[in-house]
Amino acid sequence: MKATAVAPSNLAFIKYWGVIDPVLRLPANNSISMNLSGLLTTTTVEFNDSFNEDDILINGEYNKSESDRVTIHLNRIRALAKIGAKARVVSKNNFPASTGLSSSASGLAALTAASAAACSLNLSIRRLSILARLGSGSACRSVPDGVTEWVAGKTSDDSYGLSLYPPDYWNIVDLVAIISSEKKEIPTTQGHGLASTSPFFQVRQNLLPNKIKDLKKYLSEKDFNKFGHLVEAEALELHAIMLTSNPSLFYLRPETVLLIRKVQNWRKEGLEVFFSLNTGQDVHLLCQEKDVKSLKDLVARIPQVKKTILNYPSNGVRLVDNHLF
Ligand code: DP6
Repeated sequence: MKATAVAPSNLAFIKYWGVIDPVLRLPANNSISMNLSGLLTTTTVEFNDSFNEDDILINGEYNKSESDRVTIHLNRIRALAKIGAKARVVSKNNFPASTGLSSSASGLAALTAASAAACSLNLSIRRLSILARLGSGSACRSVPDGVTEWVAGKTSDDSYGLSLYPPDYWNIVDLVAIISSEKKEIPTTQGHGLASTSPFFQVRQNLLPNKIKDLKKYLSEKDFNKFGHLVEAEALELHAIMLTSNPSLFYLRPETVLLIRKVQNWRKEGLEVFFSLNTGQDVHLLCQEKDVKSLKDLVARIPQVKKTILNYPSNGVRLVDNHLF
């Protein structure tokens, strides 16, 4: 049987950085994110006893390391469904992969939902989220709808994403400013393993429970100013941990810093805009619906920004009928 799923990438307000179990991808802390309406992966999966091997095409290319990750994930699903059939997988992003826009979140969430449906596994959102997490941690947050929290848990069965708010709860806008489509040098999975080498990692862990409490309060009050300051501080803290790891991880580029300085200046001039960053050079610009036009106009004047992608909070993964093959 064949099935197709579409999944959004997500932007973490509280970041997942560091694992206590790298095999099960049990994170060091809870994280909170919003699903992004404009950054999508579509994946079609077909299992068929007549296939001799897994045939995996991602963004029109055969890539050994990405295919291996997909095959390992397919094996998890085959084991659950108790089938041995090989699969054909075709997957497409509508945005550049491996540049820090969390393509593994949307990619693994879409792969999980499509493969489960293709072998008639009827799984709850929670089970799908747990399965997606095994493929890529942040993917578990792309399964449920809207603003989601990944509850870290202590075992595989209690580590999953759940919806805190539906997509229409608060019209926060994430304008992604793409600075370069060059792929990052150190994959995120490797970075998670280095997080605890930072002398500040434990300090971060100690402070996180209160930070999470604060973020939840600002979300419940829809206090954009406090929310934005917290999200920005969290992005900088992520980079502080990465910069002080051993070896040090350096993802920022001059253009990234330029844009951060612009955001700070725009704010001084009265525009309520905040930034967030992941493991890459691109910058997430957060504002409210009323300020989108002004923000877009300002960003359009910066030649270093190659492209922008407008995102609203969106649903999580869903099955669709239009297959890619
Ligand atoms: C900085 O989920 O990509 O974007 O579990 O190894 O696939 P793996 O890592 P991944 O890590 C995401 C890191 C981050 C923060 C976040 O999205 O929470």
